[in-house]
Amino acid sequence: MSIAQNTETAAKLRCIACGATPDSAGQSFRCAACGDLLEFFFPGWPAGSPVFEPAALKALWLKRRTSRDALDQSGVWRFRELLPHIPEEHAITLREGNTPLYRLPRCARAAGVENLQAKHQGMNPTASFKDTGMTFAASSAHQGGFRWVACASTGNTSASMAAYAARGKMHSLVLIPEGKISWGKLSQALDYGALTCQLRTDFDGCVRILNDLVRQKPVCLLNSVNPYRIEGQKTAAIELMEQLAWEPPDHIIVPGGNLGNSSAIGKALVEMLELKLISRLPKLSIIQAQGANPFYRCVREFGGKKLEPMTADTLATAIRIGNPASWKKALRVLQATGGEVEQVTEVEIAVAKAEIGADGIGCEPASAVTLAGLKKLRRSGFVKPGESVVLILTGHALKDPDFTIKFHRGDLFAGASNEAEAAQAKYLQRAPVVLDANLGAVIAALDGAERTSK
Ligand code: F0G
Repeated sequence: MSIAQNTETAAKLRCIACGATPDSAGQSFRCAACGDLLEFFFPGWPAGSPVFEPAALKALWLKRRTSRDALDQSGVWRFRELLPHIPEEHAITLREGNTPLYRLPRCARAAGVENLQAKHQGMNPTASFKDTGMTFAASSAHQGGFRWVACASTGNTSASMAAYAARGKMHSLVLIPEGKISWGKLSQALDYGALTCQLRTDFDGCVRILNDLVRQKPVCLLNSVNPYRIEGQKTAAIELMEQLAWEPPDHIIVPGGNLGNSSAIGKALVEMLELKLISRLPKLSIIQAQGANPFYRCVREFGGKKLEPMTADTLATAIRIGNPASWKKALRVLQATGGEVEQVTEVEIAVAKAEIGADGIGCEPASAVTLAGLKKLRRSGFVKPGESVVLILTGHALKDPDFTIKFHRGDLFAGASNEAEAAQAKYLQRAPVVLDANLGAVIAALDGAERTSK
């Protein structure tokens, strides 16, 4: 099957603040008139068009699952009718998307809900949700004829960008905060051949330098201010609805860092409702770490009127972000879907991560804020016990094994101000035991574990 364009999918850019509709985006992907972010919209989505007839679209997308065509096999390009058009010769795909939806029975009990599932975006080719946006944005850079692509990153974006750039025979420049990203992610960028600059600053400092750089050098910015990223990341929500037989859950819960992902999933939900692919909107809630909570404070303290940048700090390094670029888009999503915002402590994140692990799934710390946040939303009554909930797990457990090992050894909070609070996590810790190499010692360990297992 080819990527035949139909005129109905023609997409246009629009500024989210002043509504200007530029013909193209500059290298900063910001509105030339007012400086705010741009987004794609689809003026050619007429109600009643046969191309967008819901049953026909659903059948077409399902049929593509059996195709041998690389783009049909991608969980992003499979849904191309809802994306801007990029010619097939520029498409760079690693067969991203197609991620599993898992039931989480132990976590459901811990959170006090009956119906809890997780869509594991860590099961993408570079092991994070970034691949769904990156396949699309890297392809648009290729179409634009760029030799270089660049991003500022807490690690996952850089790993993903470096891979897609390499596949598309482009060079990649990565700006990351020195000492504040996990080895798993850093090693990926190196392996995929990126020029990796560890800057002595935080993520927000890396973003500032990158923004200046793109004004001077012909590099394509692949952070999530690039609206192609958002379009690709929409497909996680489309695929989720397909997996749920187009019956939306009551709640979807996502981590919030730079707030591109929540914006993308929310945009997809609203568009699917508009196209009558779904009949109601799930509530999309966004969870932040307490030490990196500018969006939480924006909503709870300032009524959504302003976002006050902060110096962020959390062990969930992926979301260690104090000045999220897409906060206005995320705010719109909260309002459109009736979602909530929550913050969770470091210990709550660590406990939730171990609980997800105990369900045999595993994820990185930033993803675990979703379960920690769900527990809080249950306690506040926002989520009811009988309601269905889907957590979006954004990264794979192996992205940050350091965190996991320290947690199980009991070292994660040693000497920190929250050491006492961390005692509540003890029952989840499974430190390795060092034994003499004899059968008796192993049997004694097994019997001991059996006595204490539930
Ligand atoms: N979870 C993980 C594992 C992440 O890597 C990120 C962001 C988020 C959640 C938050 O998503 O920014 O769209 O709100 N990581 C970025 C990076 C910023 O550079 O890899 P967001």
